Amino acid sequence: MQKKVVLSGIRATGLLHLGNYLGVLTRFAEMSKNNSYKSLFFVADLHTLTTLKEARMIQRHMPNIVIDYLAAGISLENSFIYLQSDIPQVTELAWYLSCITPAKDLESLPTYKDKVAKHPEDVNAGLFNYPVLMAADIIGPQADLVPVGKDQQAHLELTVSLVKRLNHLYKTHFPIPDALINEMITVPGLSAMGENGFPKMGKSDGNTIVLSEIPGDTWQKIKTAPTDPNRRLRTDVGNPEHCSIFQLHKLISAPDEINWSKNGCEKAEIGCIDCKKLLSVNVNSLLEEFRERRKELVEKPNLIRDVLEAGKAHVTPIFNETIAVVRDRIGIKEMIFGGG
Ligand code: TRP
Repeated sequence: MQKKVVLSGIRATGLLHLGNYLGVLTRFAEMSKNNSYKSLFFVADLHTLTTLKEARMIQRHMPNIVIDYLAAGISLENSFIYLQSDIPQVTELAWYLSCITPAKDLESLPTYKDKVAKHPEDVNAGLFNYPVLMAADIIGPQADLVPVGKDQQAHLELTVSLVKRLNHLYKTHFPIPDALINEMITVPGLSAMGENGFPKMGKSDGNTIVLSEIPGDTWQKIKTAPTDPNRRLRTDVGNPEHCSIFQLHKLISAPDEINWSKNGCEKAEIGCIDCKKLLSVNVNSLLEEFRERRKELVEKPNLIRDVLEAGKAHVTPIFNETIAVVRDRIGIKEMIFGGG
């Protein structure tokens, strides 16, 4: 039986954090070890260009992401890691797809509207076409399963509609990808609660626990993070639901510790610092193995180059096959040479 193709990517905007780890990385690692799948993970450096103009910064982040993928436990037995820009075919496919994408579908995407609202001065056509390139990432290697965070749901829906349109218009048979959305886990950042709850942990928001940092740095960030603003004194009772520290406890701590934190806060029996100390210990022990593995991996000469070369060599022919089919069905050659 043919293995199902799993595919996902991460943009190279900065160092990966606990949100990435709980949201997608542990899942990628799990899927990469499953023998009934072939997994493809890539660094979406072309997507990164829509918001980060300095290619040099992307170059600096890229190797870290490859190392983080491996340190998270992605096994290369059934899987490959590659760099998006190593496969220029993806941009050709994105062009064909963009020509069958209604612009209004792109205009109405929440991710796009958000960016326009936040940075109206920096809306480029790449940002607009972002989801089309994403669809090409998925259709190129003919992926069946796409594990992503909830924020990517609308993009995946667009991909599904594009595959259907492509198959219908050009009589192709590309698989309709299944989005595997991690419904449960949205990891809040170390921020104060806002009107819409807690901002999620995000590379650009400066509220992250970085996977590759040392335990002392994790502790410093947790120590200085805001807590329930109404609990000013140790003797004030607090509302744990208004504190990101408690939200993180709920995601990673043991049930008795979560109760301890909740009751202690509500009855003013513990100080915020006690609660933070326990969280820091738990985060650091959760990441200990990852950090150990990472230390070993960074010492290996040529590792990143070798991994990316193997990935490129594996996916290039698959992309070529997809492109050949699409060109043939569109009739590109006939258009140019008048048939034959
Ligand atoms: N847009 C995704 C993100 O920001 C990254 C990405 C690019 C991706 N291409 C993809 C994810 C294809 C899954 C499949 O998280």
